[in-house]
Amino acid sequence: MIRLAIMASGSGSNAENIVKYFAHSTEIEVAAIISNKADAYVLERAQYLHVPSYVMSRADMVGTDKLLNLLRELKTDWVILAGFLVLLPECIVNEYDGKILNIHPSLLPKFGGKGMYGDKVHQAVVEAREKESGITIHKIDANYDEGTTVFQAKIRVEPLDNAEKVAQKVHALEYKFYPQIIENLVLGRDFEKVVTVEPISKD
Ligand code: GAR
Repeated sequence: MIRLAIMASGSGSNAENIVKYFAHSTEIEVAAIISNKADAYVLERAQYLHVPSYVMSRADMVGTDKLLNLLRELKTDWVILAGFLVLLPECIVNEYDGKILNIHPSLLPKFGGKGMYGDKVHQAVVEAREKESGITIHKIDANYDEGTTVFQAKIRVEPLDNAEKVAQKVHALEYKFYPQIIENLVLGRDFEKVVTVEPISKD
């Protein structure tokens, strides 16, 4: 079995979706959910999904070996970030080189970087009158929202869409593609790198 550790700081709807996707897999399992927030809703999800969960402060994650030790104890093969807002320290990025995936709710490099997460991203997309948005799945490096892009899916942003509407469309992309892309990458399968879910108008 290939073992995934999911890391999440907030609601965890992606984490839940990934757990459910692999629930009956014979090749991939979610070994744990790890959060830096003791009151994150993702921990309740872990409980009802019967996935072991762990909480560790940001200070412990970035300033000590505790996270590295935990990931090793869990025999983690891949680290999956799903709404995780701590910049992982170099020792983790080096140990899991190329095996830490993140999802970002925009078409990076647009609307990424420190402080750009969740609804703030969608608000910025609407304010910039973007015609398209989407998701980026990437292998992380030591900077926020950088590294190697492995997949993007795009949707059209209509002139009257507000941030909530864009969020809704982008979440749908996340739920559809993140588990599939994880599966393809982990199992070394080929897949299409860019998908346009709605045709983008030319004007
Ligand atoms: C997701 O939209 C994810 O793409 C985003 O946080 C949300 C978490 O939602 N991640 C980032 O913005 C990373 N920079 P969830 O907790 O319901 O899965």
